Amino acid sequence: MLTRIHHVGVVVPSLEEGLRFWRDTLGMRLTKSATIEEQGVRAALLEVGGSEVELLEPLGPEGGVGKFLARRGGGLHHVCFETDDVARELADAKAKGIQLIDQAPRHGLAGMICFLHPKATRGVLVEYAQPFDDESHGANKPDK
Ligand code: CO
Repeated sequence: MLTRIHHVGVVVPSLEEGLRFWRDTLGMRLTKSATIEEQGVRAALLEVGGSEVELLEPLGPEGGVGKFLARRGGGLHHVCFETDDVARELADAKAKGIQLIDQAPRHGLAGMICFLHPKATRGVLVEYAQPFDDESHGANKPDK
């Protein structure tokens, strides 16, 4: 079951520059940041009122986020729904014939995650995330 919008993903050329606006100017609270090699990003989650913004800085020009930055110069990238069971959510999406990017859940900054294909959602990249019960079990190496 989808329970809420967990975060909105925003691509930035530099995490430091992104933090200057989202954290320092808007006053959002930085809750987590990590380098996620397999997704080719440095990422940070910022919180306000129980909702989050996820900043994504590509590690290089390859990969989805790097290409997005090159093509669009950054900006709104995806919307992420929280679920209590990401594997079941993915299986449901597959059963409904929704085109997927991920065939199995994987580790992300927000927990175990997967992405639906934007072709299936009229151009909106949709992520599902099941937050870790115990954050210390996450596979991501915190930057600090
Ligand atoms: Co995300």
